[in-house]
Amino acid sequence: MKIAFIIDPIDRLDPTHDTSVAFMEAAQQLGHEVWITQANRLSVVQGKAHATLERVTLVPVTLGENRWIAVDQWFQTEAPVFLPLETMDAVFMRTDPPVNTAYLYATYILDYVDPAKTKVINSPSGIRAANEKMYALQFTEAIPETIVTQEKRVILQFLEQQGTAVLKPLGGKAGEGILFLQAGDRNLNSMIEISTQQGTLPIMVQTYLPEAKDGDKRIILLNGEPIGAVNRIPTGNEFRGNMAVGGRSAQTDITDREKAICKMLAPTLQRDGLFFVGIDVIGGYLTEVNVTSPTGIREVDRLNDTQLAVQVIESIQNLESK
Ligand SMILES: Nc1ncnc2c1ncn2[C@@H]1O[C@H](COP(=O)(O)OP(=O)(O)O)[C@@H](O)[C@H]1O
Ligand SMILES: [Mg+2]
Repeated sequence: MKIAFIIDPIDRLDPTHDTSVAFMEAAQQLGHEVWITQANRLSVVQGKAHATLERVTLVPVTLGENRWIAVDQWFQTEAPVFLPLETMDAVFMRTDPPVNTAYLYATYILDYVDPAKTKVINSPSGIRAANEKMYALQFTEAIPETIVTQEKRVILQFLEQQGTAVLKPLGGKAGEGILFLQAGDRNLNSMIEISTQQGTLPIMVQTYLPEAKDGDKRIILLNGEPIGAVNRIPTGNEFRGNMAVGGRSAQTDITDREKAICKMLAPTLQRDGLFFVGIDVIGGYLTEVNVTSPTGIREVDRLNDTQLAVQVIESIQNLESK
């Protein structure tokens, strides 16, 4: 197969951490051609989605003591070519948030890939349908007490009831803009004003789950099925568990409650074409459904001796042959 990955500039990826690199390595290992492009290198010409693509070869990471090790020159690209995306068997959309206007327009361009010729993962319409913070709201049995609003009065009232809460911008990732709120905090009004851009932008406010200190679990779902998990434990004075802000990754299992949550989500994820997803679970509650560029595979593979990226690429092969 020929597989194209829509990624952020490749020299900014971390081969020891980024799941996109794990996918590219797995594709290469399975004998596929690996191509890369970026969201800002997509076009529609004569009704067909095109991309400026580069063929890439990778030097796979190796396992050191408690970490992956990459060589300095871990990838090599060939000269760019402008091709219809239907020359690829599969296209993996892996651009990092923010899901801004440019991101959304890229998904509209991907609508002009013929699904009979090329699989696009995740489905461009699915990515548009699923705000990573708000998608969880439809699973009322799985989420903690949560509101979405831009009205300060509504936020203050919710906080009075809850005592403590976590404020989340709706388009953030990797802990960006996440704030701990406490009733009576002297910065409270100001934090709400900054986050809602003076009441013009809705945000999420969610009851604070004390179990967060024991970890924010990332569960990787392939076509709705959980295939692996890693716990991320906050370090130092930080309350956020994201790896990008120093969260320590730790080995973990998937509990029965978490399996039940995955079952709850599966039909909706399948309906929306959300084939590769990473959910976040804190204390048995669903807090986020990551659909754009979920990560965690490197950590799961290192801690559990699995090969999840190979499993994902093989499942795309199977989609192809159906
Ligand atoms: N309801 C919550 N209670 C306690 N901590 C939370 C809660 N929601 C999120 N957090 C903390 O904030 C971090 C980021 O939250 P999340 O909703 O996953 O957004 P993102 O990962 O996109 O920044 C989590 O890793 C977790 O440590
Ligand atoms: Mg998260």
